[in-house]
Amino acid sequence: MRGATLWWLVFANGGNILVWYTEGSHWINMKPVLETLVDRGHQVTVLVPSASMFMNKSEPSRFSYEPFNVSVSKEDMRFSHFDVYLEIYIKFTSMIRNNIQNNLKFLDGVLKSETTMKKLKERKYDLLLSDPIYPGSDLTADILGLPLVFSLRFSIAHNWERLCGQLPAPHSFVPGPMSKLTDKMDFLERVWNFLYFALQDAVYDYVFWAELDKYYSEGKGEYPRNKKHCVTTHFLWTTYSSMII
Ligand SMILES: *[C@@H]1O[C@H](CO)[C@@H](O)[C@H](O)[C@H]1NC(C)=O
Ligand SMILES: *[C@@H]1O[C@H](CO)[C@@H](O)[C@H](O)[C@H]1NC(C)=O
Repeated sequence: MRGATLWWLVFANGGNILVWYTEGSHWINMKPVLETLVDRGHQVTVLVPSASMFMNKSEPSRFSYEPFNVSVSKEDMRFSHFDVYLEIYIKFTSMIRNNIQNNLKFLDGVLKSETTMKKLKERKYDLLLSDPIYPGSDLTADILGLPLVFSLRFSIAHNWERLCGQLPAPHSFVPGPMSKLTDKMDFLERVWNFLYFALQDAVYDYVFWAELDKYYSEGKGEYPRNKKHCVTTHFLWTTYSSMII
């Protein structure tokens, strides 16, 4: 049934697409995708949190916005932004920790707001499009009964792509994003790349996925699924790894 809806979107004009909120380079990356969807006759609505730093509702655009309130302020978000390269690893880990807490408050703003959930149900969307760097779109799609499409810019050390998207990333050939390595690595760089993946996976398991699993378990009885809940509902991953510097 869900597959049928997707095929209908590919071959006919006028789908009603809901887009998950995102920030920074992920939003910059998402905008041309949305422009193309509008060009093809789809109606595009973007969820935007009240504490968004990069999404400007007043900017003229061809897609519409669905604002929702969050209990976090813009000031709280300023230092927890994902794309800031921090040299000091400890600081980085605490940033992820802080970030997941803010991300979950954002998710509360959608899932725990009766007003927003009622609106999302009434608007009869055909599809949820998401850059999954902000978690919860899979849970939201499941609750709304919508098919889900991912367009991910990148995640640190390709954690999402490898563990959720099942994309192969041999350590000797694929440099972890934000490791400052390129695809031309000497032996020591390859060793460092291997350690970098392992270290990031351990940090994310402990700091990020564990928190998310806890949230999902509270929200809906059947979560978490298969340890990494993100494996099951995905139809399509488009990644932009080639654009990573
Ligand atoms: C948002 O867009 C409007 C209209 O283009 C502009 O006047 C305003 O300065 C922008 N706000 C921010 C925070 O960039
Ligand atoms: C967000 O908060 C404002 C002001 O408190 C309120 O007017 C608005 O209805 C709220 N929006 C939603 C979607 O709950």
